[in-house]
Amino acid sequence: MDKFIINGGKRLKGEVNISGAKNATLPIMTATLLAKGNSILHNVPRLIDIKMMSHLLRVLGARVDFHGDVLEIDTTYVNYYEAPYELVSKMRASIYVMGPLLARFGQARVSFPGGCAIGTRPVDLHLKAMEALGAKINIEHGYIKPACKELIGNEINFDKVSVGATANALMTAVLAKGETNIHNAALEPEIGSLIDFLNKMGAQIEGKDTTHLKITGVSKLEPAEMEMIPDRIETGTFLIAGAITKSEITVSNCIPKHIQVLIDRMEDAGYLFEIIGDSIKIYPPQIIKPVDIVTQPYPNFPTDLQAQFLALMTLADGQCTVEDTIFPDRFMHVGELNRLDANILMDKNMAIINGVKSLSGAEIMATDLRASATLVLAGLAARGQTTISRIYHIDRGYERIEEKLQKLGANIKRVRG
Ligand code: EPZ
Repeated sequence: MDKFIINGGKRLKGEVNISGAKNATLPIMTATLLAKGNSILHNVPRLIDIKMMSHLLRVLGARVDFHGDVLEIDTTYVNYYEAPYELVSKMRASIYVMGPLLARFGQARVSFPGGCAIGTRPVDLHLKAMEALGAKINIEHGYIKPACKELIGNEINFDKVSVGATANALMTAVLAKGETNIHNAALEPEIGSLIDFLNKMGAQIEGKDTTHLKITGVSKLEPAEMEMIPDRIETGTFLIAGAITKSEITVSNCIPKHIQVLIDRMEDAGYLFEIIGDSIKIYPPQIIKPVDIVTQPYPNFPTDLQAQFLALMTLADGQCTVEDTIFPDRFMHVGELNRLDANILMDKNMAIINGVKSLSGAEIMATDLRASATLVLAGLAARGQTTISRIYHIDRGYERIEEKLQKLGANIKRVRG
């Protein structure tokens, strides 16, 4: 298994370009199943998760070609509606095929996604949405089997904000008969880009960027072509790479307003920013002020940047807390950061961080996607050498992260394990 070897304590400099958003691309890839024909997606990142979703679409009968950053998906001959255990167990986002397969075939068979390092990951809200549209759901032998002769539009009230359930509800309702209203829909930019893509396919969805989405069902959708939005989590991760190494760097090809809340919190910590168009330049302070954060659905502080911000706060001048209300167990990185001489205590789903003067390099292990990015950030700041094992997690969500960091002057190399 590959490892990263990092010699930390160096300033970074220069500019980094942000890739297309993984969490925007994955649901759009499954939305192509709603039509027959060739859809074309641009600015697609080369990630393990994109490869896994491409494989799943091929299993369903689609033809998928990936050249450069262009993904072509021909769904003309899709004739299979089962997402098997061995694929779903590796990538939870496979559940995004459930809505489109139900809408296209009147049935689907999707392995119940298991838990992962950040929590149990229930799917009750996904099922509630499909039942509201008329599906009967049978769950047996670890498979979810929704079936419905004719989907009928309805009211869908989510008692909790869920990105995935909002996506699946949208991808089912677009071909349902009549009108569907989704209340308490997720506001994440990735939902907005899914709505843009579905409307390009011929869907009729109103209310983008609000919590109330109104869908007027149509009888047929066509393939579409679209550019993927930049990855706001990669954007935030690189801003924190600059912040934790006290460097002035520029992050380009991003959408600053998508991570406004991170910029606000980092300004509270003393950082200054220069935002010009799709670029953000960060200016570090002498002293990092401690800042408390609580993760909440968009536009509040994203859970996917919780670990990275926590790593930054290990070097703050004082005490602060980081609470994750979305994934209360998402703290596997804390133990590893403490191995780098951080001083973090856990109290249920809240980390209490007492800032230290510096971190020191050690051997650590990645556990999940965002935690592994966090360990890289901490390694960049730590004095001496840090070795990170199990870095396959990081390749799931970051395109060539070590090359991008090397271009910024980081001393990081990948050692084939
Ligand atoms: C998406 O996961 C993202 N994944 C996650 O990013 C992200 O952390 C999460 O949204 C929150 O923003 C993709 O987009 C592929 P949710 P998702 O449904 O849709 C609970 C990464 O690092 N819930 O919004 O699975 C759930 O337990 C990944 O790129 C239910 O209770 O998240 C959580 O507490 C990690 N029932 C909350 O809702 C359900 O049916 C939000 O989860 C569904 C979710």
